[in-house]
Parts: sequence; C-alpha cells; structure tokens
Amino acid sequence: MRNDSALDIRWPAKFNEIPKEVFHRADVYRLELERIFHGPEWHPVAHVAEIPARGDLKTGYVGAVPVLIVHGDDSVVRVFQNSCAHRGTQLKTCARGKADKIECPYHRWTYNNRGELIGVPGQGDFPRDFRKEDYGLRVLRSGEVCGLIFVTLSDEAPPLADYLDNTAEHIARAMGGDGRLKLLGYQKVAFAANWKEYSDNEGYHGPLLHAAFRMLKFAQADGAQFMTPHAHKVNSATLAVPEPSFIEDGSVVEGRDPKLPPHNIIVSLFPVTIITRNLDVISVRYATPISPDETEVHYAYFAHADDDAALVQHRIRQASNLIGPSGFISLEDGAVFNRLHVGSASDGTVAFQKGVRGPIVAPYALDKGDEAGNLIRWEHYRQAMGFARD
Ligand code: FES
Ligand SMILES: [Fe+2]
Repeated sequence: MRNDSALDIRWPAKFNEIPKEVFHRADVYRLELERIFHGPEWHPVAHVAEIPARGDLKTGYVGAVPVLIVHGDDSVVRVFQNSCAHRGTQLKTCARGKADKIECPYHRWTYNNRGELIGVPGQGDFPRDFRKEDYGLRVLRSGEVCGLIFVTLSDEAPPLADYLDNTAEHIARAMGGDGRLKLLGYQKVAFAANWKEYSDNEGYHGPLLHAAFRMLKFAQADGAQFMTPHAHKVNSATLAVPEPSFIEDGSVVEGRDPKLPPHNIIVSLFPVTIITRNLDVISVRYATPISPDETEVHYAYFAHADDDAALVQHRIRQASNLIGPSGFISLEDGAVFNRLHVGSASDGTVAFQKGVRGPIVAPYALDKGDEAGNLIRWEHYRQAMGFARD
C-alpha cells in the first residue's frame, strides 16, 4: 500500500498493534502538527463562561498556532490568530484578560476587540495604497456547541455539527444539561508524555490503576461506551456512593446535583480534548502538544449558572479533590503517562487487547471497561498521517 507521508513508518498489519516510534520521533510530531492539529479537525479552545463579558479574552493554542478568543463589544465571540498583522508579533501573552483595544507592543498597531485595525503610528510614510481595512486580525473558522467554542485551521474540515457526529447531546449532558455555566477556575499541568499517550487513556485501566474508581464501583456500574465515525469516544457510567469505610470524609464524593445523579461521563474528542462530568465536577480538559515528549493540559472547572452558593462550594471542593493532576480520580494517570513514554522508547509495537474481537469499524459500541475503542482513533490517525499498513 502506498505510504503518502514521506516518513519511513512501518505500520503493523495486525490491526490492534501500534508502532512505538510514533510516540517519540520528531519528524512524526511535525507531521502531526501539519496533518492533524493544523489539519481538518475541530478543537475546543474556550467555553463562553470563560469570557462571559464584552471585552473578555482568552489565549490558547491549536497545535503550534497561538490563538486569541475575544468576546467583542458587538457580543460576537471570534477566534483570531494571536499574531499581529504587521510583522507577526504575538499580541497577548496572558491566559485570560480584558481589552477594549488590543495593542501590539512592537510598533503599537492597535486593533479593536472585533479585530479591526484602528491605529497605525507613522502611516504617512507607508506605501500610498496602504489601507487599515486590509490589515485586520486573521479570523479563524469557529463554531459553538453548548457554549463550547471550537476552531479549525483548515477550510477542509467538515461542518462542525457533522464533525461531532452524535456527541453533542453527551457534551450537553456533561456540561450541566444546557451549557449555561460559570467558570470556577483552572488547574494546569505539563505531562512528560506524548499527546497520544495522554489521550489513549481508556476504561480498562479505570478501576485497576485508580483506587478512586474502585471506591466508586466503576467496574460494577451500569455504563456504555461508543465510538463515532470521526473517532470521538463517549464513555458513560452511573457511579455508586462509596462505602463509609473507604474514605474518612465521604462528602467529597457525594453527588449533590439534583439534575444528574452520580455519573461519570467522558467525551473524548479526537485528537485531544476531553469533556468530563465526574460526579458533580464539570470540566473541560484542553490539551496542547508541546513536543513529542510533553503535553500541557489545562483543566477548566465549571458550576452551573443556576447553582446556589452551597452547590458551587461543593463543586469547587470536589473539583480540587477529585480531578486534575492531584485528584483522587486522576492522580495516578500523570505517573503512568510518563512511564508509558519512558517504556515505549524502544523498537516494536504496543497492542490493545481488552474488548478486541476482530477489526473494529465506527460507529461501534463496546463495554465501558474496554480499550478496543481506541483502535478507531488510531485508524483515523493512521489515515490522516498517510502511513500505509504492512
Ligand atoms: S509587529 Fe505588531 S506593530 Fe509591528
Ligand atoms: Fe485514568
């Protein structure tokens, strides 16, 4: 089969095997930026609750490209390339901020918060045909689902609704039912692992690696998992209230949201964003690959707009104890991601087994505790990268 990637990757004929070199090679990483992160995929970059007022802004990245998400004074949320239209200087370096105007520090070109160029020092010495209207900030193609703002760098990405397959209803379920949220805060962590090791997290390891999932009886819970044609994964399970002997202060793991009983909903969008509802914790995990060996993840936590003060306090307490880099549920993941990365620095392949009964084609339903669904992500990856199978 033709290999159109120009890289000498040999993809195993066995459909459940992945070559280890894709987790380490710098040339593979560069091609991933080009074909996946800068290619025809959509990436969540903010929720409107992170920029609720006119003039609010947030920065982020799509692969290596810096982006600026701005709530304009005309109430329109736009995603710009975070780069001056003059010589390309990064305009904003703050994580979040507020701006009526956006001024570039280098030569003081100034934009309004709709991205229009409104001020240019020394314009009298510019070419006579220079027009400010031609030098607005570059607006990227964006869309919104349940308040979550997605962006793509490619004109070839399908319409957002098609791209998301049928995950939108699950995104809504995870995000308080209707996406009317209030930002609580962030936890940010850099994992010493490749982005694919981070995003290969699955249901198989849940109750085996994490004591917290044993406590919440994940293995015994009702649940389901399915994969969609665009390689998104939805894993949903009803959790059990833990036995008192398991944890001294059981209030940390109570489910108090009257609209949704104790639940675990994980929507893993290709390539790296994960939207979760773990008990009463509503979170979006924005992930950015930094290099083949490092992945930065920003956990944004939310309350629902209708919550009373007590429920907000409960969500904050549960968020900081349960999820994120030091939470009961995900504390161990960071260590394992790094050990995966160290351990995979050798020849050969890794293999998925749990739930594998033959070649897997989306849409596909599987047990919540299976790892086989990730093979659909890998097949999507292999095709996007142009790697031919042996
Ligand atoms: S690079 Fe921004 S004003 Fe010159
Ligand atoms: Fe995990």
